[in-house]
Amino acid sequence: MPLAGASGPSPSPRDEDRREEELEDELDRESERGDALESEIEAELMRQEELLRQIEAEEAACAHYKKVIKATDGEDYVTQDLCIRLLADEEEHLVLFRGFLKEYAP
Ligand SMILES: [Fe+2]
Repeated sequence: MPLAGASGPSPSPRDEDRREEELEDELDRESERGDALESEIEAELMRQEELLRQIEAEEAACAHYKKVIKATDGEDYVTQDLCIRLLADEEEHLVLFRGFLKEYAP
């Protein structure tokens, strides 16, 4: 029996069942989109963490080569020259990874 003041015919039980199923499907799709977004965010965070670890490793390598360069100054030019070249490589990597990190977290 329609409520007083309600307009139009009331939905049949069959219409209500259909509408309920549609709402459940909509909720399932929304939940799947939420899960996908959560996975995407987790993957992004893992990439950022990996980049931070990589940057830390490059910084440690640069610090190590700088120490060797200093220690070999005036004593071992061949080793010093090798470490200067290796330091240049590591500094290049550092710039590269810092650039990647900026792309992920502007
Ligand atoms: Fe490196």
